[in-house]
Amino acid sequence: MLQLQDLQFVPFLSSTEIKEAIEKVSVQVNRDLAGKKPVFLGVLNGAYLFTAELTKRFQGDCEVEFIKLKSYSGTKTTGNVQELIGVENLEGKTVVVVEDIVDTGNTISEIIKILQAEKVTSYKIASLFYKPEAYQKKHTIDYIGIEISDKFIVGFGLDYNGLGRNLPEIYQLKEA
Ligand code: IMP
Ligand code: MG
Repeated sequence: MLQLQDLQFVPFLSSTEIKEAIEKVSVQVNRDLAGKKPVFLGVLNGAYLFTAELTKRFQGDCEVEFIKLKSYSGTKTTGNVQELIGVENLEGKTVVVVEDIVDTGNTISEIIKILQAEKVTSYKIASLFYKPEAYQKKHTIDYIGIEISDKFIVGFGLDYNGLGRNLPEIYQLKEA
């Protein structure tokens, strides 16, 4: 059992399961983007670990950039995505957006608008976790590590009020 502030969490996915998911995604990314010199665009803060793991496994030249958006407050999405750190010089680039988790899809949708405004040549979306039941958009998520149910999780970059990102495994909110 894990306690973070007022909430209790139970173990959900081991670090081995996470590593296997990352390896699966990295095989697909290496296959699709061979020779393309992609820019991996990590979405801060949640995707900092996944971005590191994915880029370490990329076999070829690539760049690594970050964008910072905010939509969550506690365990609920606010539906209002703010840009805290923006991007520049992505025109003509092949971009791989690296997300920790796609939930409602508001964040991804906002990032796609930004990439289109930046005139990128093409983009792919990679997310370590995906909640299909919560997803409300139409954009394809090109690479998915693990599909999970619509329950709040923490660990491996994902937080609850800023806590839990450093945990090497994933914990799920305990049912009341
Ligand atoms: P979306 O905009 O609703 O798709 O939410 C995306 C962002 O909300 C993710 O990048 C996470 O930062 C955060 N988020 C969504 N679900 C969870 C969760 O279960 N735990 C922690 N953060 C989450
Ligand atoms: Mg995120």
